[in-house]
Amino acid sequence: MKWKNQSAVQESWSGEISNKEQKEKAARQVSEMVKNGDVIGVGSGSTSYLALKAIAARVQKEGLDILAIPTSHEASLNCATLGIKTTDLINRRPDWGFDGADEVDAENRLIKGRGGAMFAEKLVMASSPKTYILVDGSKFVSRLGEKFALPIEVDPRALHLVETKLKDMMKTKLKLRMAKGKDGPVITESGNLILDMTLEETVDNDLENRLRSIPGVIETGLFIGYPVEILTV
Ligand code: 5RP
Repeated sequence: MKWKNQSAVQESWSGEISNKEQKEKAARQVSEMVKNGDVIGVGSGSTSYLALKAIAARVQKEGLDILAIPTSHEASLNCATLGIKTTDLINRRPDWGFDGADEVDAENRLIKGRGGAMFAEKLVMASSPKTYILVDGSKFVSRLGEKFALPIEVDPRALHLVETKLKDMMKTKLKLRMAKGKDGPVITESGNLILDMTLEETVDNDLENRLRSIPGVIETGLFIGYPVEILTV
């Protein structure tokens, strides 16, 4: 039987896509990597959405049989709309994956999480032998934190504790991420809050561990030391 639905048949991105042409080129590059039988980690954000569209076109044209492991409700709905079958980390391990990023530095260290999906994005990335990071030229920075604040996902009960510990740890400004289209704060897909944290000093490789040692920090948008390959145009 078919659903009488709108939300999972109309393919769309929720806003304007910045640097769309460049993102589409990177999306086409990653779509060429897909092989029949692949289990693919699917990232979140507009670049990943464009990549998924390019992959769906190949799946349709060539009759490829692939499975996706989405990293958010957004990615999961896009897979449904585009006719790409999905699974999860409990059932399958990804052969490889792709995702976007907000910032990339010279050592391929990333800031992610503008879309609030960094927890699942990191789970899928850590499960994959390789993840292609698709970025347009605007994402390259000489210092992490140059353009974007670092998102910290926090258990709601620990909000004040985490704020206090972060301020004791380093000089920073913190902002609770507020929702658009809902009153109050953004609630992540795991039911947590997001604190956006300015990075005023150079990031060392141990920062992620220090941040995660604070009780109540569920995840951070720092992606350091994962097996990534940057795809750009
Ligand atoms: C979502 C993310 C995205 O991958 C990142 O924000 C890049 O987004 P876009 O491709 O729309 O520029 O980390 O949590």
